[in-house]
Amino acid sequence: MFITFEGIDGSGKTTQARLLVERLREAGRDVVLTREPGGSPGAEEIRALLLEGDPERWSAETELLLFTAARRDHLERLIAPALAAGKVVISDRFADSTRVYQGTRSGDLRESVDALHRLMIGREPDLTFIIDMDPEAGLARARNRGGGEARFEGFGAGLQARLRAGFLALAKEFPDRCVLVDGNRPIEDVAEDVARLTRERLP
Ligand code: ADP
Ligand code: TYD
Repeated sequence: MFITFEGIDGSGKTTQARLLVERLREAGRDVVLTREPGGSPGAEEIRALLLEGDPERWSAETELLLFTAARRDHLERLIAPALAAGKVVISDRFADSTRVYQGTRSGDLRESVDALHRLMIGREPDLTFIIDMDPEAGLARARNRGGGEARFEGFGAGLQARLRAGFLALAKEFPDRCVLVDGNRPIEDVAEDVARLTRERLP
């Protein structure tokens, strides 16, 4: 089973992905936790190209190609082999982030996003948690966290609000695999929902 966590920056994806891994391991499951951009050595190198340095470094199109290249490597080297070995794979972000972030930042890129996905990735998660979150609160959380990867967080609350709307639209577009979770609650309450929904769907 392939599970992904999506949502705006600071919504709690990383926190919830870790907690779900702990719970599944306690229940005896073989689980791999990974993230995007990154997750394999090559994709982590591409991550550094994408998230560090001058925010205007790449055009929207180049950025889309880099995210897709990173995902292809991640899929080939880590996700597909782990799923084939019967493991549960949990990824902190995946293709929905590209649909929303690259699709939102320059109006008509969504068609290219979908075409590249079909051509180079062709795999959807079995279950996607979209953690919904007030953009201002999410940004405040993400800024508190610190670190050198400020490229996307630097775009501000206006963009975060559009991204949030993008994720909500995505939940409607893929209702079979996407579940909306309210992230404006204590960590343990969100984790409880995530664990219950996962149990309901696990084979
Ligand atoms: P994301 O991966 O979505 O950017 P994180 O899981 O890294 O979000 O969380 C960002 C920050 O907010 C972290 O410092 C984390 O401890 C904190 N945080 C996460 N979930 C909650 C929550 N439900 N309530 C309060 N703080 C939270
Ligand atoms: P991440 O480290 O998950 O950030 P955060 O923990 O703050 O949510 O992701 C880094 C940034 O990369 C994030 O702002 C979203 C962006 N991103 C895209 O624009 N497209 C993508 O396909 C992916 C996977 C991430």
